[in-house]
Amino acid sequence: MQKLFFTKTPMSRFFLREQIESLTRDIVLTNDQLEKVSSLLLNEFNEGLGKETHSTASVKMFPTFVRDVPNGRERGKFLALDLGGTNFRVLLIDLDGEQFRMENEIYAIPESLMLGSGQELFDRIAECLANFMEKNGVKEERLPLGFTFSFPCRQEGLTKAILVSWTKGFKCSGVVNEDVVQLLRDAISRRADIEIDVTAVVNDTTGTLMSCAHKNRDCRVGLIVGTGTNACYMERLENVGIWNEDFDEPKQVIINTEWGAFGDNRVLDFVRTEWDEEVDQQSLNPGKQLFEKMISGMYMGELVRCVLVSLVKKNLIFNGVGSEKLFTPHAFKTKYISWIESDNKREYVQTKKVLDRLDIENASDEDCENLRLVCSRVSTRAAYLVSAASATILNKMRRSHTVIGVDGSVYRYHPFFHDLMVKKISELTHPEYKFDLMLSEDGSGRGAALVAAVAVRQKRGLCNSFSD
Ligand code: BGC
Repeated sequence: MQKLFFTKTPMSRFFLREQIESLTRDIVLTNDQLEKVSSLLLNEFNEGLGKETHSTASVKMFPTFVRDVPNGRERGKFLALDLGGTNFRVLLIDLDGEQFRMENEIYAIPESLMLGSGQELFDRIAECLANFMEKNGVKEERLPLGFTFSFPCRQEGLTKAILVSWTKGFKCSGVVNEDVVQLLRDAISRRADIEIDVTAVVNDTTGTLMSCAHKNRDCRVGLIVGTGTNACYMERLENVGIWNEDFDEPKQVIINTEWGAFGDNRVLDFVRTEWDEEVDQQSLNPGKQLFEKMISGMYMGELVRCVLVSLVKKNLIFNGVGSEKLFTPHAFKTKYISWIESDNKREYVQTKKVLDRLDIENASDEDCENLRLVCSRVSTRAAYLVSAASATILNKMRRSHTVIGVDGSVYRYHPFFHDLMVKKISELTHPEYKFDLMLSEDGSGRGAALVAAVAVRQKRGLCNSFSD
């Protein structure tokens, strides 16, 4: 690789910065662009909800069959399973009204399982569940279970969810178009050593909404910015053209937007860059989940890596010399972005740690500054896009005050994501609709147990509807 010999003079440093700023300018989104994103998304929401337009819509707006938030009177022991990110979690939750106790265990899902057969995946889930029940002394009990399954599913009831497509790092055979609850039940019967009663299957967004609503009754939106991104919200039945069930009280249902697929019909091409295209082309599902690929943890580090590779090739960073790691797809982890942006001004402690991991030697302070610029442009764009999408929901709901329950590693660990979102959502939302972002403390797993609990409570006839 050719080396730059003029990087040390102030003039050339200025020149490099200018070049990098201008080359990455398309990653910076203006409020005009974000407003356009928001109005396009509203259009997609309406298409997804409409009877005539749903089948061809990109953003599916699946009704979840969850019609109520917890009322604080749920009690009993529940199991929950949480599958959707890089880990798989099993939980045992003892609810006593507003109080609860929780045991949980995390199990790794190796890539071979994520890409293997569905049967192997569900057998592994059942195995972890059985081990967990044994460890927690409930193996002989038949407990209600809430299943958080965080992929796009068409729900046909509270306990029936047909997988529409895999997303994120998963691509197991034999699961698309199948009911994932049935696959779980089948795996459990194959083992024949435990019994469970699946009372609800939910998306992680719904789990997050329920979990936050248990603590704050104003919560009506669940948002995830983690490995993937998505949101759900409570919608009035009269706005849900595809609703084929009863119109009894409460006249509302949580809608799982599946906004990750926004842009799959190319409406977002005006904000996508050559690097977004590259990330998409190398992914497990090219052409799909294009909005998610601009935002979530599975892709953000890879986006930064693609930008850096372009800059190295143009001799604009690291003296035009990369490293094998830098040229390896997915070697730049999304958490590196948070590390780099956490450094104090003109200090490069975390940045040097990242450079070490990437085997990049002799980076100058200017290189570190430029690396930070790339990271912050990519992460700020992600925060702004999520904000535009959140504002779309708030403007659609028209409530005077809404709490948005949020979870996911990007939101949780990036040093400025929350603040960037608060500022941008305020700018893009009608001033009459106030909001708060609430970090979900114990995630979507507890939410699944709460949905199971609400279902059990309703079965027992203790239904105490909660409406707007
Ligand atoms: C899935 C959603 C999920 C989101 C966050 C997306 O890839 O399609 O169902 O809610 O990731 O985990």
